[in-house]
Amino acid sequence: MNVDFYEKIWMWAAVGIIVVFLASIGITTFGMAIQPPSHVEMIDPETVLADEEFGDPGVTINVDGSATVVVRAFMYGFVPNEIRVPRGRPVTFRLTSPDVIHGFQIVGTNGNTMVVPGYVSQFTTRFDRAGEYLIVCNEYCGLGHHVMAAKLIVEDVAAGTGGAR
Ligand code: CUA
Repeated sequence: MNVDFYEKIWMWAAVGIIVVFLASIGITTFGMAIQPPSHVEMIDPETVLADEEFGDPGVTINVDGSATVVVRAFMYGFVPNEIRVPRGRPVTFRLTSPDVIHGFQIVGTNGNTMVVPGYVSQFTTRFDRAGEYLIVCNEYCGLGHHVMAAKLIVEDVAAGTGGAR
């Protein structure tokens, strides 16, 4: 079979592009742990404020030393506004919104999810560097979108501690 020289170039270019795309998915998924949240859980947005969990959001340190962070995103802020988590431990974020779609991006980390009314967004990550991180809303949600921010503080915890505080 005779394939024209230029056609060969384009065929191999197409193969190369597919390889690059698949490799980038593989590297971000397995190397950088960036992946879409797979958790599906629904909640009635009208009852979020009265909800046992989301009516009183905050950080819980579990007995194994991991942390669960419940966050309510709203126009225009996050509750709690300052989140303290232990360094090097699994941290599970659970978020919902009583009003419109918001974003929750922990700048400089792989912590990033949409917060959609009617759903609980959940993801687990770990922070290996202590310090302060900025959390921003990255979905346009109205006139106050640009002021919608919070702070994450990753703290060193003494070895062996892991109980509730
Ligand atoms: Cu909330 Cu933008």
